Amino acid sequence: MSEYESNSSVDAAYDEYVMPIWKSLNVPVKRAHGCTLEDFDGNEYLDAFSGISVTNVGHGNDAVVDAAKAQLEEFVHGCSYVHPNEPVATLAETIADVTPGDLQKTFFCNSGTEAVEGAIKLARKYTGSKEIVALEMGFHGRTLGSLALTGNNAYKRGMAPTLNDVSHARAPYSYRCPDCRGDGCDSSCADELEHVIGTHTSGDIAAVVVEPVMGEAGIVVPPAGWLERVQEIAHDHGALLIADEVQTGYGRTGELFASSHFDIEPDILTQAKGIANGLPLGAFTASRKIADAFESGDHLSTFGGNPVACAAALATIEQLQDGLVEDARDHGQWLESELNSLEEKYDAVGQTRGLGLMWGVELVDPDETGPRGVAPVPDSDLASTVSDHLLEESAIVVGVGGYYKNVLRLQPPLTISREQLERVVAALDRALEAV
Ligand SMILES: Cc1ncc(COP(=O)(O)O)c(C=O)c1O
Repeated sequence: MSEYESNSSVDAAYDEYVMPIWKSLNVPVKRAHGCTLEDFDGNEYLDAFSGISVTNVGHGNDAVVDAAKAQLEEFVHGCSYVHPNEPVATLAETIADVTPGDLQKTFFCNSGTEAVEGAIKLARKYTGSKEIVALEMGFHGRTLGSLALTGNNAYKRGMAPTLNDVSHARAPYSYRCPDCRGDGCDSSCADELEHVIGTHTSGDIAAVVVEPVMGEAGIVVPPAGWLERVQEIAHDHGALLIADEVQTGYGRTGELFASSHFDIEPDILTQAKGIANGLPLGAFTASRKIADAFESGDHLSTFGGNPVACAAALATIEQLQDGLVEDARDHGQWLESELNSLEEKYDAVGQTRGLGLMWGVELVDPDETGPRGVAPVPDSDLASTVSDHLLEESAIVVGVGGYYKNVLRLQPPLTISREQLERVVAALDRALEAV
């Protein structure tokens, strides 16, 4: 029985004992099932954000819970790098099977940021080079290495110095691109990467790190040909392409991995979030040739590849392959046309964009021109007001993010029903009308 009997008692304990890391906390959760969250006052909410895009096969998924429970009883920990065990072996083999290209060997850790850190070490070890290029507005985590790659100083203030020798190239954010201004983008801005390597680096590049769809930047989907050109430039410079699929992986975009939407083969692919439906697990996977650059002692994690988390991951992948990825794709097509209608209906909806069940609704003040004279000015206040309205009037949880904090993020569990999605769209329509 919980000691906390109300939302306010949990909030009070947070105020007193939990470090203040976030400006506005969302609803406290006592329990969750499917796409429903229940708070400590007994209220229910439709979750359209999945705990920041994690519970892809639904909260409290029976198969995942059963697999984790069975493994809990069998064997919880021995350090998977000291004691080889079946969940790690089976999961590594499964990942080799389901990831794109010839990605073959996996290192397991506990989070997305750790996966990114490990991938950088591997790229350095394999190439013998040191420097990294990432994207402006990209997000790769909060530890000092991954924070260096994160292209947004909102996350870095007061935290420098981070890793040296990281440069940033322009993000494929065509809606706010000063060159193509959203019209007739031909992805030529990918060539900017060549310019950045030429001007900001010594040329000793270990990796170019990209999110195939940029999550925290505001669900930025690169235009056709962009990622392919970035891969080409990276390889021309002897650098590896690291696809950070921490947020896009495991079915989120209507493919098991978002890299499959493009004609690329990542050299290293990072994973976390949806991999184990909420149990802490991160991973990075590389081809045999690249992975074997790591020698004994180069990398390790005490909890990495925890058998319980790996058992949960296996159950998660099984269900994703059993129709949920296709469902995400179908829902995404429906959502695209619904959100396009809202974009046409409301001037304050600047752009809607996404793939599968990863959608952003960018809100703007239509009467003022935005940064660099491109597109209307981002309206972060409107985004928080709409999100509050959705929560208070319709009991729907969405995310608010984007580089300008003006993008509503719809990233529900992939198990969401069409009827529940209709509820989200109708509530969004009402909220936009009301505010
Ligand atoms: C693309 C990407 N990489 C890395 C991370 C960091 O993951 P974690 O919060 O699990 O450390 C995130 C988290 O949002 C992410 O979206």
